[in-house]
Amino acid sequence: MTDSPDNRPPRVIVCLGKNCNAAGVGALLHARLEAMLAEADPFQPPFLLRTANCLDMCEHGPNMVIYPGNIRINHLDAEKLRVAIETHVLRREAKPGGVV
Ligand code: FES
Repeated sequence: MTDSPDNRPPRVIVCLGKNCNAAGVGALLHARLEAMLAEADPFQPPFLLRTANCLDMCEHGPNMVIYPGNIRINHLDAEKLRVAIETHVLRREAKPGGVV
C-alpha cells in the first residue's frame, strides 16, 4: 500500500553544495537532522531527510527546503534549523512557498 502524499512525512532537503557547505556548515546541520532521526521512532520518522547539491539560491545559503509547502529556509544556522523543524515539521504550520 502506498501512502497518499498527505500521509507521507514531510521531506527536509538540506543543501550540501559548495556554497552552502562552505566550512562544513551544511554538513554540520545535516548531522543535527540525522541525530534527530536517530532519536525518533524508526517506523514513524517525523521527516524524511534528503540532500541536494544545489537549490539555486546559493547567495542566501546555507539553505534548506521543506515539503510539502516548498518552505525555503535561508541563512540556516542551528537555531533556525530547530525552529523550522518545530514549526514546519513537528507542528506542520505550513506556509506554502514561504521563505524563512
Ligand atoms: S550550493 Fe546551496 S543553493 Fe547552491
